Amino acid sequence: FRRKNISFRIYCSAINSDLSNKLNFPVIKMSKVLNAKFFNEFIDMVDLCCSLGWNERNGGNMSYRIATEDIEAIKDEFSFEKPWTSIGVTVANLANEYFLVTGSGKYFRYTKADPENSVCIAQLDEKGENYRIVWGLASGGRPTSEFPTHLLNHSVKFDITGGKHRLVMHVHPVNTIALTFVLPQNDKDFTREIWDMMPECAVVFPRGIGILPLMLTGSIDIAKATAEKFKEYDVVVWSMHGIFSSGENFRDVFGIIETVEKAAEILVKVISMGGKKVRPTAQEIIDVCDEYNLDINKALL
Ligand code: 13P
Ligand code: ZN
Repeated sequence: FRRKNISFRIYCSAINSDLSNKLNFPVIKMSKVLNAKFFNEFIDMVDLCCSLGWNERNGGNMSYRIATEDIEAIKDEFSFEKPWTSIGVTVANLANEYFLVTGSGKYFRYTKADPENSVCIAQLDEKGENYRIVWGLASGGRPTSEFPTHLLNHSVKFDITGGKHRLVMHVHPVNTIALTFVLPQNDKDFTREIWDMMPECAVVFPRGIGILPLMLTGSIDIAKATAEKFKEYDVVVWSMHGIFSSGENFRDVFGIIETVEKAAEILVKVISMGGKKVRPTAQEIIDVCDEYNLDINKALL
């Protein structure tokens, strides 16, 4: 068959590459996980974020709560041999759930070329206290060091949205980070500065942006503080570090971060040109949201 007609992901294992070369044809290994739609959307998103400069080296991480029907379709490729590991926090409402998550120290840039060694599927135990890797990170490793933050965010959003939110994304976009060095570090001022830049900002994230001061990354403290902010917001900025966002799907979460970062880039330019000479009034921002029947967070105006 012709190579261009192969719709599923194929790859040659190192062991079989000799044979493959002799036959001048790839040895095909079918994998339900590698061909799953959600899996490819995840890998493509990692790749896209990296291409935008949001993920230097191993910077940033992503986690996706896999739907039950998707798990049923791929479960026979899982191995349940790995030991349970403490999450460090308890997420009882996520007991027994499965997450696709990037590996700690793994480069976004190389994830698409080598997904099996870059990401893993982790299952939570029946109390939501421990996880075990059931697929991926084939040559070793563990989920992102921010796994406690991801899981606490998932936990908060699971209750608030009735299970609709599935994706938590963390990236390091330049302009948003740059602004955290000059803008006041409170939710109201930070949000309003960003909302001011484009009318669509208030439409895309009408609840606003939460901001946290510089805290120790990968710590339980930052996980708890971020989850607290996620009770109110869908996007949280970590000062001098990056952004976290949560949403129903890849398109929505990417759309929020892309909009925050674009507004941040405009603001960086405006500040560089000497600062704002005009700005929209609070009423003008409310009017835009009224057009779309959106409940703007008036406390931040
Ligand atoms: P990990 O490589 O452990 O995911 O850490 C990257 C990061 O961005 C920490 O905040
Ligand atoms: Zn980070």
